[in-house]
Amino acid sequence: MKQTHNFNAGPCVLPKPAIAAGINALNDFKGSGMSVIEISHRSKDWEAVMDECEALWRELLDVPAHYRILFLGGGASLQFLMVPYNLLERKAAYLETGVWAKKAFTEAFLLGGSAAVKVASSANRNFSYIPKDYEIPPDADYFHITTNNTIYGTEIHDDYDSPAPLVADMSSDIMSRPVDVSKYGLIYGGAQKNVGTAGVAFVIVREDLLGKVSRPLPTMLDYRTHIKNASMFNTPPVFPILIMYETLKWVKTQGGVPGIYRQNREKAALLYDEIDRNRLFVGTAAKEDRSLMNICFVMRSEYADREEAFLAFAKERGMVGIKGHRSVGGFRASTYNACPKESVEALVACMQEFEKKIK
Ligand SMILES: Cc1ncc(COP(=O)(O)O)c(C=O)c1O
Repeated sequence: MKQTHNFNAGPCVLPKPAIAAGINALNDFKGSGMSVIEISHRSKDWEAVMDECEALWRELLDVPAHYRILFLGGGASLQFLMVPYNLLERKAAYLETGVWAKKAFTEAFLLGGSAAVKVASSANRNFSYIPKDYEIPPDADYFHITTNNTIYGTEIHDDYDSPAPLVADMSSDIMSRPVDVSKYGLIYGGAQKNVGTAGVAFVIVREDLLGKVSRPLPTMLDYRTHIKNASMFNTPPVFPILIMYETLKWVKTQGGVPGIYRQNREKAALLYDEIDRNRLFVGTAAKEDRSLMNICFVMRSEYADREEAFLAFAKERGMVGIKGHRSVGGFRASTYNACPKESVEALVACMQEFEKKIK
């Protein structure tokens, strides 16, 4: 297989053992003589995967017993709608830190109109920082944040103290750092960065927050439906859940979330140090808000015409997925949990070599 350094923003690099286990299960699930996509989701063997997957979530993130964990279809984007459907009665507060946060707000606004309020935004500087100077309305039903802004490379590094239940889209930094789940009312995300492949979203919800809205809830949009049916009200996306399960098993082998966090900090420090040292490049995110997952940088203005040349140079050396999102430009290296340190070292070496070539 061709050697690459995969910095894709998602779908992205996954742990090799998780992919290998997925291939085995596609061929022959637990010695059943059938593929995992051919068996009944009501079979004992499948239910064991669901149970063990949930147990791993609980163990790895230390999820308290009064929180429920769900595996649902529709990606994080469906959660943008399910959250307000289930929680918004009088007021919902949103922090606008990027495109995904805006999309989450749009759904709340569609449902609740002026009951959905933006408390702060970093749109004035192209979402290059996390707003700090604002108040969370204590009478809000919830306060929604996006902990990692995949496109802009900014991240909220700690668990906020919020007077309203905190709801977090953690699509692109779940399992990358220890999180105090008890500080959140609800955490959700698409699996396809740090916990598997597209096709399944995770939801961790404090059960006592549910059942308080006056609107009738369509069955599939009601979290309680999925709690009652252990995420199997309808046919679950078995293969994405299996990959999630195998990915979590791999996280455990890395020393769990603390071990992964250590690796992520090392990788990010390597690359940010090079960006700050190298005369050709400059980081785009405010230093204190720099993401450990998506590292965004551009060419300094005097070298702006070398952008394409650097992309071609990096491609020749096996770098994949480092072109920045069109709304930021430049480069973005996504260094998710499964991105090996060697890949980051290779990118750093590539930046150093390119610097030497440029007068
Ligand atoms: C922070 C964030 N939220 C939400 C989404 C949307 O996820 P999905 O494609 O699962 O709907 C993404 C996708 O990249 C994301 O990065």
